Parts: sequence; C-alpha cells; structure tokens
Amino acid sequence: MIQTKATIISHREVKPGYRCLAARAPAIAQAIGPGQFLHIRCSDAVDPLLRRPFSVHRVARSGGSRLGAAPDSVEILYEVVGRGTEILSRRKVGELIDIIGPLGNGFSFKRTTHHDRRESRAESRGSPRTTILIAGGIGVAPLVALAEEQAASFKRGAFLALIGAKTKDQVLSAQDFRKAGADVIIATEDGSQGKKGLVTDALKDFLRTTTEGSPVLRQAQHGERSRTKRSRGTHHDRRESRAESRGASLITIYACGPHGMLKAVAGIARVYRIPCQVSLEERMACGVGACLGCPVRIKTRHPSDAAYKMVCKDGPVFDAAEIAWGK
Ligand SMILES: Cc1cc2nc3c(=O)[nH]c(=O)nc-3n(C[C@H](O)[C@H](O)[C@H](O)COP(=O)(O)OP(=O)(O)OC[C@H]3O[C@@H](n4cnc5c(N)ncnc54)[C@H](O)[C@@H]3O)c2cc1C
Ligand code: FES
Repeated sequence: MIQTKATIISHREVKPGYRCLAARAPAIAQAIGPGQFLHIRCSDAVDPLLRRPFSVHRVARSGGSRLGAAPDSVEILYEVVGRGTEILSRRKVGELIDIIGPLGNGFSFKRTTHHDRRESRAESRGSPRTTILIAGGIGVAPLVALAEEQAASFKRGAFLALIGAKTKDQVLSAQDFRKAGADVIIATEDGSQGKKGLVTDALKDFLRTTTEGSPVLRQAQHGERSRTKRSRGTHHDRRESRAESRGASLITIYACGPHGMLKAVAGIARVYRIPCQVSLEERMACGVGACLGCPVRIKTRHPSDAAYKMVCKDGPVFDAAEIAWGK
C-alpha cells in the first residue's frame, strides 16, 4: 500500500455528470491490478475528511499503455454524486492529489504469456472460451481496466462486454471495450440506445443462444436443474458433473454495478454454473479493514449463522457464490 501526492495530468468530462481523472503515480501504477481501488482525498482542506474509494479504471505502467493512457499513470472514471465527488470535479491539471493504493483484492484472471496465446489459439479451434464483462452504469469503471489488461488474449467473439444504463446519457466506455477487442452489447431501460430493457435480460438472451448452440453448456444447465433430484456419488453423476464443469469452464463472468444487478447476475451464473466474480460497493471509511464499516454478509452452512467479510479488505471483488444476497 502506497500513499502519494500525485500530479493530476488530465481531468475531463466524459459525459455530463461523469469525469475521468488521470494522475501520475508510478509506484501505484506498477503495483495495482484490475478490480483494486484507490482511496483519494478529494480536497486538501479538512472537509471532507474521509477519503473516497474509486476503482482503478485504466493503468499505464512504464512505457505507457498500448491503448493510449499516459505512462506511469492511474486513471479513475467517476460519477459526481455528492460533496466529495463535486469537490474532486473542480480539481485542475497540475495540482497534487493525495492517493492511497492499491487497496483491496481485484479480479482474478490468468495473465497471458506468448505461450498461452499460442495455446489459446489452438484451444479456440476446438471449443471457444468466452469472457463476459457485465456492467451497470458507473460499474464499467473497473471492467475497462480488466479488459485492457486482458486485451492481448481476447479474440473477437470470445470477449463480450454488456453495458447497461437507465438511458443513453449514462452509457459509458463502449468505445474502450471495443478498442480492447470486445464485442459490445448495450441495454438501456428506456430503449434510447441498444436493446430496451435490463442488461441482465441481455445476459440471459446471450446465454440462452449460446447454450442452444453448445451441447456441453446445455448439459451443464440441465445438470443444475436436475441436481436436486439426484442421489450422490453414482458413476452417472460423476460423468455428468465432469460435463458440467467442462461447460462452466467455457465462460467466465466479471460484473460490477448496483447491488440488485449483481444479485441478478449471480443468480443467472448459478443456474448456468458459470464462475462469476463481482465487484461490490459499500460506503467506506478507513478502506483497510480497521473500522469494520463495510461488512458484506457471506454464505454459511446454516442460513441462521451470520458471517461477514469486509468489502475493503477481503474484496471489493468476491466470488458471487460466496455472497449471501438476501431475499
Ligand atoms: C471499492 C469501491 C470502488 C468504487 N469505484 C467507483 C468508481 O470507479 N467510480 C465512481 O463513480 N464511484 C465509485 N465508487 C463509489 C464512490 O466511492 C462514491 O460515489 C463516492 O464515495 C461518493 O462520494 P461523495 O462525497 O461525492 O458522495 P456522498 O455525499 O458521500 O454521498 C452521495 C450519494 O452517494 C452514495 N454513496 C456514497 N458512497 C457510496 C458507495 N461507496 N457506494 C455506493 N453509494 C455511495 C450515498 O449513499 C449518497 O446517496 C466506489 C466505491 C467503492 C466502495
Ligand atoms: S472501510 Fe473500514 S473496514 Fe472497510
């Protein structure tokens, strides 16, 4: 964890109410990964005293980023929602900003080597692997970092970004995902851009179509439906469960957005037996696990038992299957 006074090197409005701020912070840029966050003092004055957490949106290490970010910089994409972000929105290029990072645990994913890329080209001739990034509103912020980190290994058709928003004015980062090699599907609640409806419906449509075309995934979904009927441990079960895990291994979902959306995504992933990582948001104070102010309830063997983890220290990225999402 590094605390630094970083120079703001760019700060621009992306859309009304949304801004992107980049700061030169070589040590943090070197250490941070997608899904981790920065804790930022929005003002040099005493008020507001508490730092505000923001996911890293883009990162460029020494030598710069292939996708255009300035070298040795970290970037955040934020929505102006209250006092802290309003003050932040007035900070100017050249000013110093107090940043702590990297904090938390980010997305787990396989970093790609040249050897992996050759192997993955060979694999893709057999069964295609699909990575799905699904974001609601400002939830795009950490997923762009993940997309750019993985850009080298994704191939068109195997890398999908689903972006949801209430209206077209809140659709963010579509171009960034495209530049990283993703196919992009947009869903707006009012139908002003892309499909009309919830982004989770777009996810269901995609998975329905994909499973229809893939016997392995169809079998995986069937396996989930019939799981309750099965007795444990027969030879047939073991064969079916191998097929399920083969199905599951073909797709991975990474999600960030409002709680209701993440809960719905977790439910869909469970039905299709797809591994799913979610980036949670909770109001934070210390950001390092000391104040116990950002608990999230996790599943226990007996639903009446209560167990909690801290979003700042144990997350913000969790396995969706670990969270007790509630009714
Ligand atoms: C790990 C993490 C990563 C985040 N990444 C981003 C990001 O990349 N971009 C971005 O725009 N925002 C992000 N947030 C949310 C961001 O921290 C809050 O929007 C910010 O702290 C609001 O500060 P404020 O002083 O402007 O608002 P306040 O005046 O404190 O509150 C204004 C409104 O925002 C709500 N709010 C405040 N904090 C949070 C929070 N943590 N989660 C949800 N709602 C909140 C309040 O309930 C209130 O309705 C992240 C939060 C966490 C925990
Ligand atoms: S913000 Fe203090 S424990 Fe998470």
